[in-house]
Amino acid sequence: MSAKNGREHWGSKTAFILAAAGSAVGLGNIWKFPYIAHHNGGGKFVLIYLICIAIVGLPLLVAEMMVGRATQKSPVAAIEELSGKGSLWTSMGYLGVIASFVVLSFYIVVAGWVMHYIVLAANNAFEGMKPEQFGQTFGDLYVSPGLNLLWATLFMLITYLIVQGGIKGGIEKTTNLLMPGLFVLLIMILIWCVNLPNNAFNEALNYLFMGKEEIEGAAVLEALGHSFFTLSLGMGAMLTYGSYLDSKVDIFKAGMWVAVLDTIIALIASIIIMSIMFANTESNFGGGPGLLFVKFPQALVQMPGGYYVTLFFFVLVFFAALTSAISLLEVAVAFLIDKGWNRKVATNVMTISIWVVGIPSALSASAAWKEIFGDITMFDIAGKTSFFDKMDYLASNWMLPIGGLMIALYVGYALSHQLRAEQFHMGMSRKAAAHFRPWVFFTRFVAPLVIILIILIEAGVVQKDSVNKFFDGLLSHKASAVSELSN
Ligand code: TRP
Repeated sequence: MSAKNGREHWGSKTAFILAAAGSAVGLGNIWKFPYIAHHNGGGKFVLIYLICIAIVGLPLLVAEMMVGRATQKSPVAAIEELSGKGSLWTSMGYLGVIASFVVLSFYIVVAGWVMHYIVLAANNAFEGMKPEQFGQTFGDLYVSPGLNLLWATLFMLITYLIVQGGIKGGIEKTTNLLMPGLFVLLIMILIWCVNLPNNAFNEALNYLFMGKEEIEGAAVLEALGHSFFTLSLGMGAMLTYGSYLDSKVDIFKAGMWVAVLDTIIALIASIIIMSIMFANTESNFGGGPGLLFVKFPQALVQMPGGYYVTLFFFVLVFFAALTSAISLLEVAVAFLIDKGWNRKVATNVMTISIWVVGIPSALSASAAWKEIFGDITMFDIAGKTSFFDKMDYLASNWMLPIGGLMIALYVGYALSHQLRAEQFHMGMSRKAAAHFRPWVFFTRFVAPLVIILIILIEAGVVQKDSVNKFFDGLLSHKASAVSELSN
């Protein structure tokens, strides 16, 4: 494939889709989504999530890929090329580089826990454990400075080795192997779940798709916020991957594939986790990390074949985390490469910098850290006291939505209509071109409005209550319209 200014390109369209899906499918799909879907009562929440992916996620995904492909550059350089060096829009690119630091710094810690659990599962350490020992095992790991640092460092090192190999030789090779692997493991475990006791599989399906619980406005926000995180939007990751695309690829179709794969995997992961929990008649899913690292293995070892399923499951989570981490590191590395650095040096520098920023996340739960830095970590952001939680909160609730808003406004208003149209139609069939107008509409109007609303609520300018009322009204209105139609 021809390369503009000697830039590397993906070996094929499928390779790009697998890499981009690898970025999207991560801890967000397997650890976070099942928990929030359960917490919000399934059913309507899942429906709203799907709508968010379609009307905000997909348009922004295409917008990011478009800017990358058009310029063949990573965010900062891309905007400098399109809008000039002094343009304020470049701040969006810098924000993305900072966000990649912030997200990776806690991502490597959680991924480290996953690696620790693979070792535990492989050694059959969970067999015969008493219920309280599961909490104890995770608690010990959580506060251990040595283990956290060891695993986070090892995970960072693996990520480094892959990114250092470049697009074709490193990233593409890895994602081409791990993504199909992840999918096969997931399907195998899903099939295994069908025969779980207590009619658990059906119950899980029911809960996820038929849940009738009333939905709160806050849940709508959660669904929206998560649709950014899960599609790796708002920080230039998809823009950077798009910059290694050539003109033969239909980016709308590629974006559809990525969004669909990401969604399917999040849904399957939820079915699996819910089935296993229900099979063990466990209705308390715990919060956050507790689900994947405490309640889930605890339920799983009770089942026949639990040894293999636990092992396979943690291996699969590791694959998901690794293919996301590579794309996070690539954002930072590509920034330096476009400043004229060579890949090896850029990867060395960024890996070490991110690792250093990640140290506080790895250590902040330990007693020694609290003793030394107690005062520094005391200041709290929105009630988040550990360094780790603060990073997660800052990135997911502020940086990604702000970055997403900027990319929507940039592509929707600052780019010329001609460039948008040309990029959208490149490599596309005639029939598919009909998607152009709706895409422009969603990018210019729907996505920015929705994101501004989330940011205002997050900032406390708009009360959650008023959103609750609004959505209550909307939903009951829709429900009555639907029931009228079906009568
Ligand atoms: N999408 C990833 C997940 O679901 C997390 C993520 C957010 C991400 N932003 C990113 C990954 C940017 C890679 C690049 O877990």
